Amino acid sequence: VTDTDDDYRPGLEGVVTGETRLSRIDGEAGELVIAGFPVDELATRATFEETLFLLYEDRLPTPEERESLRADLAANRVLPEEALAAVRATAEAGGDAMDALRAAAGAAHIDHDDGDPEADAVRAVAVLPTAAAAYWRYHEGQDPIAPDPDLRHAADYLRMLTGEAPTERVVRGIETYLNAVVDHGFNASTFTARVIVSTESDVLSSVTGAIGALKGPLHGGAPGPVLDMLEAVHDSGDPEGWVRERLDAGERLMGFGHRVYRVRDPRAAVLSTAAEQFYKGDDSGFFDSATEFESVARDLLREHKPDHRLDTNVEFYTAVLHAGIGIPRALFTATFAVGRAGGWTAHALEQLENNRIVRPRARYIGCEDRRYAPDDER
Ligand SMILES: CC(C)(COP(=O)(O)OP(=O)(O)OC[C@H]1O[C@@H](n2cnc3c(N)ncnc32)[C@H](O)[C@@H]1OP(=O)(O)O)[C@@H](O)C(=O)NCCC(=O)NCCS
Repeated sequence: VTDTDDDYRPGLEGVVTGETRLSRIDGEAGELVIAGFPVDELATRATFEETLFLLYEDRLPTPEERESLRADLAANRVLPEEALAAVRATAEAGGDAMDALRAAAGAAHIDHDDGDPEADAVRAVAVLPTAAAAYWRYHEGQDPIAPDPDLRHAADYLRMLTGEAPTERVVRGIETYLNAVVDHGFNASTFTARVIVSTESDVLSSVTGAIGALKGPLHGGAPGPVLDMLEAVHDSGDPEGWVRERLDAGERLMGFGHRVYRVRDPRAAVLSTAAEQFYKGDDSGFFDSATEFESVARDLLREHKPDHRLDTNVEFYTAVLHAGIGIPRALFTATFAVGRAGGWTAHALEQLENNRIVRPRARYIGCEDRRYAPDDER
């Protein structure tokens, strides 16, 4: 085996690099299965703790097991002072929320150092909502709010963010979101987590690296722009004219198209139902204009690119739901990380169960036979 072989796939596209029992994606059929459950079956019903237990143990918990994991997560949500200081410094220096999360995950071992991968996994998942909420409060010139050991993970995230105990309707909305995005095959951040732990590094390090991978706009960054777009369309009062103008100018519509899905992203269906339930009753104007826009945009995209199958992706209704729940735009990607941390840690544990260090090869395209030249000959 040399480093000049030709079986080269940029971005590892289509290459199967491991086995997993955690999630299965069928991009042609628009299916996502989480540990055996169709995503809509699980996401809209389970608590985040149940989903996490399912990923770790491959079955739903008993009520006692669910409570035990809830209490464990809650106890682990408390950040060490050093981590909180790093979050504060990031917010005050104008850094973004993902920098704050990465710093907090990087410092979470300080008062924890357990060495047990499963305890590290719970720790890594637990600290992220605390860091995201603290970042936002420092950003707004407020003091952070300490975790509440009696609350569920999702509810406590919102309480630490706003200072108020959220209603069950709001908690259901955010839990459906966290469950819907908890895992999605070998995406870039999950693969990063597996690569890191494959060196027998620790699970907290793998989550720290995964946060860095998710930070990039090609992976974690679209719901903010979707919301900008929806607000602009809402203000224009003419969705069709607005879309035609954008497409004629060669622009892309945010929240549509996906590398893997060739039909509507199944998570979009879950989140649109969650958003519909959330907005039902009081102010459904924004939700109604979003669904109207979706239908106009899908039709016009079909007309505009008949050879491509462009449909709604997860980011579209993420933006609608987050706007309703009151997640600040600056925390959209961080909130994605709060959910995806479940998948990252479950993948890290799965990798460790049957580990082989990840070590692909590169095709060398540089020079050969160079000679070291003295300064006066360069
Ligand atoms: C997600 C995304 C990057 C996938 O890209 P991709 O798989 O590389 O898609 P392709 O580049 O093969 O697109 C095929 C064609 O459809 C067009 N297209 C893709 N997404 C489009 C969109 N959202 N709006 C308008 N046209 C789009 C492309 O311009 C391309 O046209 P061309 O062949 O004339 O150049 C892309 O669809 C996109 O940029 N979407 C908008 C941003 C977004 O919502 N991102 C969140 C993803 S979860």
